[in-house]
Amino acid sequence: MSRPQIPLEQIRAQVQACKKCPLADGRTQTVFGVGDPQARVLIVGEAPGKNEDLQGEPFVGAAGKYLNELLSYAGLKREDVFIANVLKCRPPGNRDPRPEEIQLCADYLREQTRTIDPEWIVTLGNFATKFILRTDVGITRLHGTLQQAGRFKVFPVFHPAAALYDGKKREALTNDFVILGQLLQAPKQEQQ
Ligand code: URA
Ligand code: SF4
Repeated sequence: MSRPQIPLEQIRAQVQACKKCPLADGRTQTVFGVGDPQARVLIVGEAPGKNEDLQGEPFVGAAGKYLNELLSYAGLKREDVFIANVLKCRPPGNRDPRPEEIQLCADYLREQTRTIDPEWIVTLGNFATKFILRTDVGITRLHGTLQQAGRFKVFPVFHPAAALYDGKKREALTNDFVILGQLLQAPKQEQQ
């Protein structure tokens, strides 16, 4: 590794002070991420919603409760993983992230990823998946397939919020998290 890792608390302070994009104006607070700083699995979502903006923690609303359930299908607890978003501030009315916002904010996710140095990255939905895999292929095609980005194993799944009221996506998410649990249990040499 060429550059030294930046301590997570230092990245957190940078995020807290960030005014690089206009989303800074509308936020209650930044949402840095939460979990085990040495997690084997990094979960990447899209952007904070209303509850996340108010509480300063990712995935605390309905989608968060559902994410906790999904993690259990993979044999994981929320405390075992690290959860972060592509954007650290809430877009107004939960609109989609804009390309320029992603470009400006992504440095933080990049540094978080370097510091945590997970073995696995689980991308939730199109924005996280397209960003991490640098692909234009949609989540409908990629979900539940093992991908690679640099030294990271990447496992894209549907965004839990998109599946809350969509039975087909819920079924796919259940299956995908069961598969993730199996992949996580496979002996290391078989994964190489
Ligand atoms: N959706 C996301 O993508 N991230 C959150 O933190 C909450 C909802
Ligand atoms: Fe900074 Fe990211 Fe928040 Fe924009 S969304 S102000 S780049 S932390």
